Amino acid sequence: MEQTRLEDLVFKPSEEFVAQANIKKEMYDEANSDYIAWWAKQAAELVTFFKPYKQVLDDSNPPFYRWFTGGTFNVSYNCLDRHYNSDKRNKAALCYESEVGKKVIMTYRELYVEVNKFASALKKLGVKKGDRVNMYMPMIPEQAVAMLACARIGAIHSIVFGGFSADSLADRINDATAKWLITADGNWRKGAAFNLKANADAALEKTTTVEKVIVVKNTGQDGINMVEGRDVWYHDIMAGADKYCPCEEMEADAPLFLLYTSGSTGKPKGIQHSTAGYLTYTCSTLKYVFDLKETDVFWCTADIGWITGHSYVIYAPLALGMTTFMYDGTIDYPDKDRMWDMAERWGVTVFYTAPTAIRTYMKWGSSYPDKHDLSQLRILGTVGEPINPEAWMWYYKTIGKERCQIMDTWWQTETGGFMCTPTPVVPLKPGTATIPFPGVFVDVIDDNRQPTNRGYLVVKKPWPGMLMTIYGDNDRYKATYWGKFGDIYLAGDSAIKDEMGYIWVIGRIDDVLNVSGHRLGTAEIESALVECQEVAEAAVIGKKHDVKGEAPVAFVILKDGYSGSPELIDKLKKHVGVKIGPIARPDSILFTGALPKTRSGKIMRRLLKDIAEGRAIGDVTTLADPGAMQDIAGKYGKDED
Ligand code: WTA
Repeated sequence: MEQTRLEDLVFKPSEEFVAQANIKKEMYDEANSDYIAWWAKQAAELVTFFKPYKQVLDDSNPPFYRWFTGGTFNVSYNCLDRHYNSDKRNKAALCYESEVGKKVIMTYRELYVEVNKFASALKKLGVKKGDRVNMYMPMIPEQAVAMLACARIGAIHSIVFGGFSADSLADRINDATAKWLITADGNWRKGAAFNLKANADAALEKTTTVEKVIVVKNTGQDGINMVEGRDVWYHDIMAGADKYCPCEEMEADAPLFLLYTSGSTGKPKGIQHSTAGYLTYTCSTLKYVFDLKETDVFWCTADIGWITGHSYVIYAPLALGMTTFMYDGTIDYPDKDRMWDMAERWGVTVFYTAPTAIRTYMKWGSSYPDKHDLSQLRILGTVGEPINPEAWMWYYKTIGKERCQIMDTWWQTETGGFMCTPTPVVPLKPGTATIPFPGVFVDVIDDNRQPTNRGYLVVKKPWPGMLMTIYGDNDRYKATYWGKFGDIYLAGDSAIKDEMGYIWVIGRIDDVLNVSGHRLGTAEIESALVECQEVAEAAVIGKKHDVKGEAPVAFVILKDGYSGSPELIDKLKKHVGVKIGPIARPDSILFTGALPKTRSGKIMRRLLKDIAEGRAIGDVTTLADPGAMQDIAGKYGKDED
C-alpha cells in the first residue's frame, strides 16, 4: 500500500478554536469582493489618524501606490499614547530577558515615558522630521525605545542587524546618509561580552556622514572607546531630557523606516515603508493570524534587525496593545532548553520562530522541550523559508502537542507583513503557507500572466503594507518588482499551487540565497571574495543544508602564481565573515580552473548547484566551454574542505 506523504495530510482546526477566533470565515469573501472597503474597515478598527484620509488607495501613479492619502498619522502615537490614555496604561507592553538573566518589564506607561524622553533627547541632538537615524544594537528594550522615538519625531530609522560586519554597516549608513548612529557598548553571546562599539567605530571610519553616536550601556564592559565631541552615553542624554515630546503629524505615506535587504546585485536595497498603510497592515495580519487576545503573551523570536522584528516584535503588537516578549541571546545558553524555559516562565501563549531554529531544536531532541510545561501555548508560527514537512510535524507534535495550529507565514521585507498564511479558520497541510490573507491577491502565474500550478509567485493588487520604493532609487524599484509584468508585483520566489489552491513556496528565482532565513545575494559574497588579492573570479551558490536550509558554497578561480591550500580557504572564509557578517561565510570553498559560463559570459549557477548537491550535471549545451564542468565535477569533494 502506498504510504501517505506528510504534505498530503490535512489538519482541520477544532470547532472550539474556530468559534473563539478573531477571524470569521465570511471575512475572506467580504475582503476579496471589495478589498478597498476591507482595508478601509481595517484602518477604522485598528489605527487612529489625526486628520482623516481622503482616499484609501491612490493608484494614479503606478507602481508608486499610496495608501490613506490626505490623512495625517503618527506610529508612536498609535503604539503608545492611545494605550497610555486607556485602561492599558499599566499593562505590560514589553517583556525582556537577556542571556545573562537580566529581566525587564515595561508597562505602556513606562515605555511612553522612556520614548518621550528619548525623542526629546534626539531633538536636542538636532534630529528632525525626515532625517535618517541608523541603529546597530542588541535586542534590548532601548532598541524599541529608539525606534518609537524616531517615529514620534518623524525621523526615519534604518536598523542594521547586529550580526552584520562593520563594512556592511558603513555601506548602509552611507546609502542612507545618516548623521546619527545609535549603538551599544556590547552584547552577550554565550555568556561573553562582545564589543559591538568597536565594530561601529570601524564602520564610522568608512563613513563621512555620521556626526553623533549614542551609546547604550548594555554589558557594562570596560575598554569602550568614546570619541570626544562625537559619542554620548544614552543614560547621560536621558538624565536631563524633557518628559514630554509631542508627536509629529506625519503624512500617511511618509517614510517610517528603511531596511536594507539583499537583491541580485552586490548593492543591498533600502526598502522604504510607510506609516499608516504599514501599521494598518501589520496590525490586521497579526490580529487575525495569531489571533491575539488581551491576555496573550506574544513571543516572536526574530531579531529586530530583520523585518519580522520590526513588524511583529515591535510595531504591530504594541499598536494592538499586546504584551510582546523579546530575548537577547543564544538559544542554547546555558543549555539547549533555554527557549522552552523562558516560554514556560513568561507564560508565552503565542510563539513565532523560523524553520532553521525548529530544525536545530529537532536535532537536539524532544527531551529539552519535554522538561517544561508548555501547556499555555495556543498558537505556533514559522517564517523565513519553506519549512520541510518533517520539521513541521515535529513542531506540531513536540511543541504544540497537536493542540496548536501552526501559522506558516510567507512574506518579505518588501511586503511589510504576512501575505500567504493560514488563519484559525484554515485547515493546515505541513509545508505550505496555505492561502492569501483576506484582501491580498497572491497568485502563481506563468510568463504570459496566466494562472498556473507552477510558476512565479506574484501579488496582483496593491496592499497597504507594501514597500513604497527603494530608497533613492525609484528606477530599481520599478525594474525589480514591476519590470516583468507591469502592474503585477513580482516577489522573486517560485511556487506551486495545489488542487486545494494552497501555495507552496519552492525558492528564489533570482540569485539570492536563504541561509537560516537570512537573505544574501550571491553577488555580495562573490564581490567580497574577489577583493582578496589571490582571487581572480568567484561564483557562489546555495547548497541544501539540514539546519540552515541553504549554505553558501564558493567556487573560486585563483590568480596566476597562487595555489589553493587549507590556509587560503580559511582566509577567504574569514574575509567574507568580516566583510559581510558571519552568516555569509561559505561552508566550503572549491578552487577551480574555470567556471561554467554561457556564451554571453553569464555564470551558470544551476550547474554548480547540481555538482554541489551531488546530482548528475544538467544541460550543458549552452556552455561556452563544456570541459569546464568536467574539471569542477572531478574536483568537487576532493579539494573542498
Ligand atoms: C522566503 C522574511 C517559504 C521567501 C519575512 C521570501 C519563505 C524571503 C517564507 C523573504 C515561508 C519567507 N515559506 N519561504 N513561510 N517566509 N520566505 O525579506 O523566499 O527576509 O521571498 O523576509 O524568504 O525574506 P525576508
